[in-house]
Amino acid sequence: MNDAHPAQSWQVRPEGPDDAAGVEALNRSAFGPGRFAKSAYRLREGVAPAPGLSFVAMEDGVLRGSVRFWPIRVGGHEALLLGPLAVEMAQRNRGLGIALMQAGIEAAHQGPWGAILLVGDEPYYARVGFSRLPPGRVKFPGPVDQNRILGLSLKAGGLLNLSGQIRRAHIDDAVCADGAGLGS
Ligand SMILES: CC(C)(COP(=O)(O)OP(=O)(O)OC[C@H]1O[C@@H](n2cnc3c(N)ncnc32)[C@H](O)[C@@H]1OP(=O)(O)O)[C@@H](O)C(=O)NCCC(=O)NCCS
Repeated sequence: MNDAHPAQSWQVRPEGPDDAAGVEALNRSAFGPGRFAKSAYRLREGVAPAPGLSFVAMEDGVLRGSVRFWPIRVGGHEALLLGPLAVEMAQRNRGLGIALMQAGIEAAHQGPWGAILLVGDEPYYARVGFSRLPPGRVKFPGPVDQNRILGLSLKAGGLLNLSGQIRRAHIDDAVCADGAGLGS
């Protein structure tokens, strides 16, 4: 899948129900308990990840990395929030992070979403097509470094359509009820 890593012995596949505990453990170790206080997490509270867009990287049956996307709304537009994205510490710089995002972005093109937003380092995410939004264009429900708000259009003009307050897409009662909380 990635020519830069010829000895690749891992594969990216859709996350299944049996992966949930492993993904949660990976996010806990990558982001720590402070992850729940982040602005991006407020958009995930009580909301299920976007269906079909969660992927895991597996190697010899061991979970090495994970990416999920969350549905959000910006104005009247449906969009996605990328993250959490995490790769096991000892397995970084092998191309897993990029491959996970590429799988999610490819799948996201099939859905109703116009664009993907995230909060992160532009030099890394630019590798899969993200670029910085003009400061102040969109507003997270909490403090966020404006220079780290990045976006990627999934449809023509998808990113240009987005401005204003970012909101949760919908509340998923099943997720609320069991109190599951996942986020970066
Ligand atoms: C960010 C993360 C997912 C990257 O995963 P990864 O599998 O190591 O990434 P890849 O192997 O696909 O890409 C590695 C390349 O990106 C570069 N890179 C990684 N993080 C970077 C960053 N923050 N800024 C710029 N470049 C970065 C590496 O230097 C490497 O460059 P190279 O290919 O020239 O050697 C991983 O470091 C991680 O889990 N970090 C902790 C959790 C986190 O911060 N997640 C992102 C926020 S949601």
